[in-house]
Amino acid sequence: MEEQEKKILCVGLVCLDIINVVDKYPEEDTDSRCLSQRWQRGGNASNSCTVLSLLGAPSAFMGALCGGPVADFIMADFSRRAVDVSAVVWQEEGQTPSACCVVCPSSGSRTVVLFDTNLPEVTAEDFSKVDLCQFKWIHFEGRNAEDQVKMIQQVGLHNSSLPQKQRITVSVEVEKIREPLYQLFPHGDVVFVSKDVARHFGFLSAEAALRGLYGRVRQGAVLICAWGEKGADALGPDGSVVHSDAFPPETLVDTLGAGDTFNSGVILTLSNGGGLQDALTFGCRVAGRKCGFHGYDGIAENSAN
Ligand code: FRU
Repeated sequence: MEEQEKKILCVGLVCLDIINVVDKYPEEDTDSRCLSQRWQRGGNASNSCTVLSLLGAPSAFMGALCGGPVADFIMADFSRRAVDVSAVVWQEEGQTPSACCVVCPSSGSRTVVLFDTNLPEVTAEDFSKVDLCQFKWIHFEGRNAEDQVKMIQQVGLHNSSLPQKQRITVSVEVEKIREPLYQLFPHGDVVFVSKDVARHFGFLSAEAALRGLYGRVRQGAVLICAWGEKGADALGPDGSVVHSDAFPPETLVDTLGAGDTFNSGVILTLSNGGGLQDALTFGCRVAGRKCGFHGYDGIAENSAN
C-alpha cells in the first residue's frame, strides 16, 4: 500500500452525545427548556476520526459497541463521514456508552455526564486481529491503559521489521485525571496531555507542564499540551518549547470536542511530514474554528481559511 493511502486509526471511545444547548447553565433541581437538542456521535477517538475525515484524511475507528438503536445511529454517522469501522469490536453484552452534554454558548462551557462503564473495552487480543499494514499512524485515547500498552507493544513489534519510513507513528492522549492512564506517557511518539491532568500535577501553564512532565515520555518523543484560550505548547527532543496562540472564533458557540479537533489537526500535519510548529498552529486554528459552530460540519466548509 502507498504511504499516502494509509489511514490514521483512532482507538478509544465512541458514544452517543445527547446535546442540550442552553442560554444559561441550569440550577440543580430545576426544570427548564433548552434552546435546541440533538443527538451526535461522540467520544474522543470517534470525534477525532470525524475531524480527520472532514479534513480529507482517511481514518479508521477502533472501539467497542453493543448492537441496538444507539449503535445503529452511531454506525450510520460513521458511514456518513466515511470512517472505516472494520475494526469496531461488537460486544454481546453491555450498553453502548451515552453522555448527556450541556453546551452553553454564552459562557463557552461544555458539561458532560458520561456512562461508559457497562461495556467491555477493546482488548490487546482484539487489537492483534487488526491488519496494521493499512495504517501510518495509530492514536490511542487513554482508557484501559494496561491493555493499550500491550497494543502499542504490538505496533512496536510490527515496526521493528520495517524500514523507518514505513513505520507506524503512535500517539497517545492522557486526558482524564486517572492514575492508571499515566503509564501511557512513555509509550507514544507523540503524547497529548490535557490541561486538566497538567493542573492536577500542579502546573499552572502549558510550558510548565511540558517541562515538568517531559521526564515521563520516552527518548525522542514529543509532548503536547493545549491550554484552551491560551493556545498550545509542545516540547520535543531538542528541548525547545514551541507555542501557538489560540484562534478564537468571532462568537463562541460550541466547545464540545475542541480538544479532539486539536489532536486531529496536529496528527494530520505531523503524519503528512509537517513540522511541530505548523502542526501546533494548524491544531489551534482548526480547534478554534470548530468552537464557532455547532458540531463538526463547518470544518470542511472552512478548511481553506
Ligand atoms: C468530547 C467528548 C464527547 C463525549 C465526552 C466523553 O471530547 O468526546 O463527545 O461525550 O467527551 O468524555
